[in-house]
Amino acid sequence: MSISALEDNKPSQNQQDDFAQLLTSRRSVRAFLPDPVDPELMRKLFTLATSAPSNCNSQPWLTHVVSGASRDAMSEALMHTVGEGEHVLDFPYDGKYSGVYRERQLEVGLMLYKALGVTREDKAGKRQAFLRNLEFFDAPHVAFIFMPDWADIREAVDVGMYAQNLMLSLHAHGIASCPQTILGYNADVVREQLEIESSQKLLFGISFGYADMSRPENQILPSRASLSESTQFYA
Ligand SMILES: Cc1cc2nc3c(=O)[nH]c(=O)nc-3n(C[C@H](O)[C@H](O)[C@H](O)COP(=O)(O)O)c2cc1C
Repeated sequence: MSISALEDNKPSQNQQDDFAQLLTSRRSVRAFLPDPVDPELMRKLFTLATSAPSNCNSQPWLTHVVSGASRDAMSEALMHTVGEGEHVLDFPYDGKYSGVYRERQLEVGLMLYKALGVTREDKAGKRQAFLRNLEFFDAPHVAFIFMPDWADIREAVDVGMYAQNLMLSLHAHGIASCPQTILGYNADVVREQLEIESSQKLLFGISFGYADMSRPENQILPSRASLSESTQFYA
């Protein structure tokens, strides 16, 4: 689409409504069907994701998608390392929040545990819920999202925009996803499996495929804070 086409074609009310519906209906899915995504469609959607803006158009995202045998080998390798507490993160993350951020973290955690029937004292159930991340929630595909080693917080912002573009493009085609920081808990193992250099730094992974909507973990709907808690308007 040319820029002039954009200027001439102001989105219709229907298009605006459809877009709002697309944005608000995306959610993190934590149970997938085994059905694979068509490889050609995958290429199209990963290309769409690259339309994201970035500082100086640097496009600092580096993505590796695993499916089939490489997906299975990756899951096994992560189970044997991250699953056993061997953590090697390129970007530190302790998952400890406080105040209102802690409340939001607790809300989604409790929703998920409740859906899965995991009680407060159920350590084994909580561990199992953690390990499901490393099985990619049975998703047939996972995108590991890296950036070059010179990149810092500015470029991580660019990569976040790219990742959201990707998840929305997937969603627009009926394909669900779950972004997962846990998939970056052992960057060395992921690099080893992908046979890539340490010059690529791992931010997170995104499991994707078709959602199994019969599963209770896909019924949760984390809330959003009101607009006034995040956004101030000035005149
Ligand atoms: C960068 C990033 C990392 C995340 N990591 C995980 C993860 O490791 N495991 C998980 O189950 N969910 C993870 N999530 C999903 C969040 O829990 C989820 O986005 C949040 O609760 C809001 O829910 P929604 O995505 O369904 O709107 C992550 C989300 C983002 C954006």
